[in-house]
Amino acid sequence: MTVAYASGKVILFGEHAVVYGRPAIAVPVSEVQAQARVEPGAAGQGTVVVAPDLDRRVVVSNAPADDPLACIVRLALKAMHCMPDPDLTITVTSTVPIARGMGSGAAVSTAIVRALAKHFAHWFPSQVVSDLVYETEVLYHGTPSGIDNSVVAYEKPVYFVKDQVREVFWVGRPFLLAIADTGIESSTREVVADLRQRYQSDPDRYLPLFDRMGEIAVTARSAIEQGQIEGLGRLMDENHALLQELGVSCPELDRLVVAAREGDALGAKLSGAGWGGNVIALITQETVGRVSMMMRLAGARRIIITEVR
Ligand code: MEV
Repeated sequence: MTVAYASGKVILFGEHAVVYGRPAIAVPVSEVQAQARVEPGAAGQGTVVVAPDLDRRVVVSNAPADDPLACIVRLALKAMHCMPDPDLTITVTSTVPIARGMGSGAAVSTAIVRALAKHFAHWFPSQVVSDLVYETEVLYHGTPSGIDNSVVAYEKPVYFVKDQVREVFWVGRPFLLAIADTGIESSTREVVADLRQRYQSDPDRYLPLFDRMGEIAVTARSAIEQGQIEGLGRLMDENHALLQELGVSCPELDRLVVAAREGDALGAKLSGAGWGGNVIALITQETVGRVSMMMRLAGARRIIITEVR
């Protein structure tokens, strides 16, 4: 039996703008993880993926081409030049919240690739894992930028420009984030498609917003590398205002952002596609209790504290 894991993620800066070629930054969140366990199966059963949390049992040989669980298994086996459809049972579980912008699909796919690689004593570079997982991100999200699969596969803070740059970078001074869940599911596919329509009918309105988000991501990267954490909060606040202008926030997200600031967070913004999902707040050891309490009072269903390092 082999077991492998993959962490969730949050986008720190530049969601949506990244779809339009602007830089963005994402970081892994190891407090939530997907797990894949590979065991030999009964002779002749072929490869079966079991996902008890989702109440799914997928027989890979019969599954449609657009089933993400079957797709990632086929891709990983092919990349390792294995015989197709070996007798294996792959059991997938995950604590990464689904449809909250935390990379649940990418984490499950990454855990499956890692577990299969381990099972067949194969080693994939992170870049290859990321590229394989991207194929399933397309099935989940439609037209993803590729940032989610990159940060989940590399498991390090990533500076990302679609089709151009995928750089792991150094965190000069570790810092804390509170990740607060609105409890509202958010479909990345829908939000991205809606924004695309609005952008296409009025590009002049949206392009300056994307440009500014890209500039913020560049400034934020150097602040993180130099350990200048205080300035990051202001950049998060500005990024949230731009996301509001893009039309991807919602009252529940805005309430959590305001509450975080009232609790003395250094800054706060929505993270991921928006219209639900999570807010991230930049906190310190001194403010973690107060910020968490304020966000709970403002409706946060769950709060995860993570250290970015
Ligand atoms: C989703 O986690 C982030 C978006 O920018 C979409 C993408 O990058 O594919 C909204």
